[in-house]
Amino acid sequence: MRNGRAVFVGVLCAGLSMWGLAGVAAQAPKPQAGGVQAQRVHTDLVHLMRGIIYPASNVIFAVQSVDPATIKPENDPSTSPNPLTSTYGQWAAVENAGLALAESANLLTIPGRVCSNGWPVPMQNADWRMWVQELRDAGMASYKAAQSKNQDAIIDAAGVVAEACSHCHDKYREVKVRC
Ligand code: HEC
Repeated sequence: MRNGRAVFVGVLCAGLSMWGLAGVAAQAPKPQAGGVQAQRVHTDLVHLMRGIIYPASNVIFAVQSVDPATIKPENDPSTSPNPLTSTYGQWAAVENAGLALAESANLLTIPGRVCSNGWPVPMQNADWRMWVQELRDAGMASYKAAQSKNQDAIIDAAGVVAEACSHCHDKYREVKVRC
């Protein structure tokens, strides 16, 4: 019974992703010599947001109201799913979240990714690239604020992050027809 359902879901997903990727196949990075791809897209834009950008930004937003140095590590920090209470917790987690956001700016400009509606991510647009850069800068500002271990600095940086998200969302997420 379970297997039957898994097969059905698998076939459905394969069908959907073929439908979604068909329109952008021409943009997909070509394999380099030896068949190795330097970059490969594994998910659509919405899952990139949910899986990488949203969790990283939540670490930065969380420390607007709590000093990360006061956050108690888990009993076994090595298995904590919460970066702030993990082995690399407290201010280190905030540094890492800033770096994750800055790195994720690269993921927003890899050719071949589609939006949840199947359209190509509009990475050729000047304003898309501008807001990707804003996210990159906000990530690095958070990283530097976390390095300084200064609560006021991280509150300011969190504001810059929130603006970077909403500038792009105002055009490309809220107005569904665009992405
Ligand atoms: C350069 C543009 C851009 C930036 C910057 C950006 N987003 Fe997004 N985001 C989008 C678009 C477009 C969508 C809709 C994606 C889709 O439907 O495929 C989206 C979707 C999302 C979703 C998924 C919502 C759902 O329907 O489940 C989350 C969560 C999200 N963004 C969080 C963030 C956060 C947090 C930030 C800032 C740290 C951010 N995004 C920065 C463009 C951006």
